[in-house]
Amino acid sequence: MHRSTFLQQSALLAAGALMNPLQSWASEKPDGKIRVAVIGCGSVSGMYLPHLTKSPFVEVVSVCDIVPDRAASRAAEFKVANRYTDITQLLAGEPFDLLINLTDMQEHGRLNKIALNSGKHVWSEKPLANSYKEGKALLDFAKTKKLRLWGAPAVVNSPQFAFMAKSILDGKLGKVAAAHAHYGHTGPTWSAFFYEKGGGSLPDLGVYNLATLTGLLGPALSVVAMTSTVTKERTVDNKGKIKVEAEDNAMVLMDHGNGIISHVQCGFNYFDPYGHEGKGQDHPTITIWGSHGNMALAGYDWAPYGVDLAVSWTEKPVRYEPDPKNYVWQQGASVVAENLVKGTEPRINVEHALHVLEIIEAARTSGQTGQRVKLSSSFPYPMVK
Ligand SMILES: NC(=O)c1ccc[n+]([C@@H]2O[C@H](COP(=O)([O-])OP(=O)(O)OC[C@H]3O[C@@H](n4cnc5c(N)ncnc54)[C@H](O)[C@@H]3O)[C@@H](O)[C@H]2O)c1
Repeated sequence: MHRSTFLQQSALLAAGALMNPLQSWASEKPDGKIRVAVIGCGSVSGMYLPHLTKSPFVEVVSVCDIVPDRAASRAAEFKVANRYTDITQLLAGEPFDLLINLTDMQEHGRLNKIALNSGKHVWSEKPLANSYKEGKALLDFAKTKKLRLWGAPAVVNSPQFAFMAKSILDGKLGKVAAAHAHYGHTGPTWSAFFYEKGGGSLPDLGVYNLATLTGLLGPALSVVAMTSTVTKERTVDNKGKIKVEAEDNAMVLMDHGNGIISHVQCGFNYFDPYGHEGKGQDHPTITIWGSHGNMALAGYDWAPYGVDLAVSWTEKPVRYEPDPKNYVWQQGASVVAENLVKGTEPRINVEHALHVLEIIEAARTSGQTGQRVKLSSSFPYPMVK
């Protein structure tokens, strides 16, 4: 069977669209690998490529960046045979099956659409489009082409997320009432897009906490938010001094139904002694309260250290899942590649990424209008059974 035909069939099988038993592409192909192209050879590609090139299920065949030197240096560093400077060349060049989109946030929707239109599966860094409407249209389009689409972040893959989700489902906290999450630093210094229209701290940072809290507590029904821009001008490596157009400070309240309310705060003006890397940050950033217990995730949700669970009046909280096991935040693309090869379905799913995108848009609208904004999207919940 031809590689691309198999990948399309396994995608369909994984989506439950065909009734045949799941079939492993890996067992049919001696190399058992999916051919991958990476577009966007900036900062985050330096985290993705080491993971991807170590995966036994991935062959990185091409890299692409509109800045030729960046594509050339990543190709040399990771021994990638082909490099290109625009998506048209990339698609006309060495054949591949999965596009990994690591470009500027504002470019994601456009490039993802071009890739799907050329028959490629897509893993996109966040957000997977500039608006919920654009993202939903991408998913509908992918379905008509029998292709798969996924979006970062991959926080739901951590064993700590699984432990928290299972604890809630098993009723360890009693009736869940409230949750809080926060993430911030002083903002990226290398690229302007983080601060331009379509950028902001919500799609860059808040997105992790929004994915974690909705993943744990269920889809949000409505959102109320305040957003602001604290730092009006910044100096960044690629454009010098720029005016900040996007919010860099946000507070979001979500109603999850059944009385459950949660809060996410994020921003690019948070002094954090652990910096952008977050190395060594083992204080709680996610806390969930219920009538019989509470839980705190130590560290960031993208780099967790464990979960402190308290269910007794007399005992101290107990730390569970102190080991991240195989989880790292930059694993998302490798995980979906492995699932495509095996014909299995990962926990991370595109409906969840789209729901988070709708929340981000609703938070911006609420911040501007002062109104509570209802949401229309949902995703398969609970995520851990
Ligand atoms: N840097 C991080 O630590 C980090 C972590 C997690 C997620 N992300 C996300 O990854 C994405 C990229 O962030 P980054 O920090 O790597 O930014 P970056 O500016 O370092 O890299 C983006 C790269 O994309 C290239 N590019 C832009 N438009 C392109 C196009 N049309 N075709 C080909 N190449 C194009 C740019 O030239 C640049 O090299 C963003 O969505 C960001 O939110 C970044």
